Amino acid sequence: MNIEPSNKLKDLPPYAFAEIDKKVSELKEAFGRGEASAPIDFGVGDPSEPTPDFVIEGLCDAGKKHASSGYPSYVGSGEFRKVCAEYMERRFGIELDPEREICSSIGSKEAVFNFPQGFINRGNIVICPSPGYPPYKTGTAFADGEPYFTPLLEENNFLVDFDSIPEEICERAKILWINYPNSPTGAVADRAYYEKLIEWAHKWEIIIAADEGCYIDIYFEEKPLSILEVSREGIVVFYSTSKRNNMTGYRAGFVCGDERVIEIYKKLKTNIDSGVPSIVQEAAMIALKDDDHAQHMRELYSEKRDILARGLKNIGLEVRVPEATFYVWLRVPDGMSDVEFAEKLLSPEIAIVVTPGSAISDECEGGVNPGAGYVRFALMPTLEEMHEAVERLKKFSA
Ligand SMILES: Cc1ncc(COP(=O)(O)O)c(C=O)c1O
Repeated sequence: MNIEPSNKLKDLPPYAFAEIDKKVSELKEAFGRGEASAPIDFGVGDPSEPTPDFVIEGLCDAGKKHASSGYPSYVGSGEFRKVCAEYMERRFGIELDPEREICSSIGSKEAVFNFPQGFINRGNIVICPSPGYPPYKTGTAFADGEPYFTPLLEENNFLVDFDSIPEEICERAKILWINYPNSPTGAVADRAYYEKLIEWAHKWEIIIAADEGCYIDIYFEEKPLSILEVSREGIVVFYSTSKRNNMTGYRAGFVCGDERVIEIYKKLKTNIDSGVPSIVQEAAMIALKDDDHAQHMRELYSEKRDILARGLKNIGLEVRVPEATFYVWLRVPDGMSDVEFAEKLLSPEIAIVVTPGSAISDECEGGVNPGAGYVRFALMPTLEEMHEAVERLKKFSA
């Protein structure tokens, strides 16, 4: 019997982070043989700090509360959606109806990947930023849509330059993905930008899918705003406790915005999965009710960001300090590619793992890959490792 993956699956490139994981394993093996320093991993953006104790305790209590199990609500319990609404009100001053305007999600990834299936027909376009979170394009492909990649460029402060998108693309486009605070560039969008973007999207009848909630509470100066503060029409936002509260393993988030979009999304979701486990919903509610832990994480990331920025400047590199997120998007020195730079850092005596920008970005019109020439540092190493990394970076020469 011959077993073959589907054409859609065959057509996908290998998941970028899987390649990085492989390289880290090789370095770890070399370290085990005494042939390399202990790797310091700035590669994958998965928080290394633990989930806060009060959330873990809440999870344990929830196990007893939900002892008789039973399927969870497909769209999130009424109580869960109420807590999400309270969070949005407290953080942004936005009033949402938990019944009509909010739906739970199993973290953001599944929601981002599945969302286009609710809105896209064969041949429709989904506009995806490049660099960008891979499920924007893979979810589009699985919905039989076509991704159109729009570049995030330093000269535009890494904002989507919607005016540069050709009219024939706008006519066929149904969804635009945006992600501010942005991974990997650390950029944020302001009200004036959102106002113009929304005007453009309304003109072309394009849904704005704003993957904003992943990093919106990881900021260093001003609090980033939600696009829902500007308008709700044709706009939907994606939130997650993964990065906010070091809960990537829990899988809890929510989607909210224009009730017509949410209604369709709920119908889709009810057909795909059986909801966020009840005990995880309980833990996520505890996390979303609290603001102190997020404040603690901001202080920690801010310290790490500054140590790394100093270390990179010391060796003559130009650093654009991120306004939000836990990423530093570094332009590599002239004369070398991002992959060459990342490979140099993987040398046994430096043993620093970063993500080459070209691995997380796609070629745009004109054959330009906007991630080429950059690498991403995720601020995951401990403070001690950050200082060690700065020492090792001194061995780097372009
Ligand atoms: C931009 C962005 N969106 C969404 C996600 C998904 O996070 P999760 O599925 O854990 O909520 C990530 C995770 O790295 C991300 O970087």
